[in-house]
Amino acid sequence: MTHAEQMREDWERVEDWLCRVFEDREPHGDIYDAMRYSLLAGGKRLRPVLLLETCRMCGGDVNAVLPFACAVEMLHTYSLIHDDLPCMDDDDLRRGRPTNHRVYGEATAVLAGDGLLTAAFETMLENGGDLPPERVLAAAACLGKAAGARGMVGGQVLDMAGEGHALDLTEVEELQRLKTGALIAASAEMGCILAGGPEEQRAAVRRYAQKLGLAFQIQDDILDVEGDEATLGKPIGSDRENEKTTFVTLKGVAGCRELIGKLTREAEKALEPFGDRAAFLIWLTDELVGRKN
Ligand code: IPE
Ligand code: IPE
Ligand code: MG
Ligand code: MG
Ligand code: MG
Repeated sequence: MTHAEQMREDWERVEDWLCRVFEDREPHGDIYDAMRYSLLAGGKRLRPVLLLETCRMCGGDVNAVLPFACAVEMLHTYSLIHDDLPCMDDDDLRRGRPTNHRVYGEATAVLAGDGLLTAAFETMLENGGDLPPERVLAAAACLGKAAGARGMVGGQVLDMAGEGHALDLTEVEELQRLKTGALIAASAEMGCILAGGPEEQRAAVRRYAQKLGLAFQIQDDILDVEGDEATLGKPIGSDRENEKTTFVTLKGVAGCRELIGKLTREAEKALEPFGDRAAFLIWLTDELVGRKN
């Protein structure tokens, strides 16, 4: 199987699982419609693929950890719904569709985010049956730490507080590390945790994904300036409109490209201890360099 085919297979597994997850729930108003509306709008599924593939690289059972990969995607989708709200980035387009609050209203969009966040933890704790309980708990703790005020939420706070102010490079780096890097790093680390990888492997995977996460957000900042709205599925120019300082503001597009190249090389170097088993992740990391969405 080629790496592209393997990626496609992971992506389909995740889609299939997510399509079925809320199928048999008793509806309460339109909450499940709102949750599914954003969850099934066709994101890249980078975080679940990272979880599945680090698990595979560390010798784990990819089928057993699929619900954990999907839980990370639920949590990520919640962060996007809230990120788009009028009180945050106030955006109208996400994953090629009108944003959740534009369709369901602000109150339901807030609750759809809350529903996805809590469903992520419910999913992990209910579907860990075939795995040692200590791995399930460590994975859930890893995600909780990365998603909360020490991670993504903390980064979003810095992002909002920075609107309209000039930030320096250290501040932007810290903000990006938290708002995007933390969840990407946790996705990769959870794969290793669930596979039962030893601490040295966890540390190597974390180092890899922290570099990848930063490169990923810098590319996101470039796309906000020079992307194509139809391909990207979200508005261009949101950062400028909200007066955010990004890597592009500080280093320019060419400087950012250089930085992405450097971070990509560093990320791939961190995978050296895995030898040939890292081939897929190295391919994926290279693929993300010039991504258009
Ligand atoms: C968008 O994430 C928000 C960031 C953290 C940069 P993605 O670019 O992974 O969005 P989807 O999941 O593909 O929609
Ligand atoms: C948001 O960063 C990161 C999240 C925690 C959701 P951005 O605000 O740059 O993400 P986009 O560009 O709207 O996807
Ligand atoms: Mg934002
Ligand atoms: Mg945004
Ligand atoms: Mg952005």
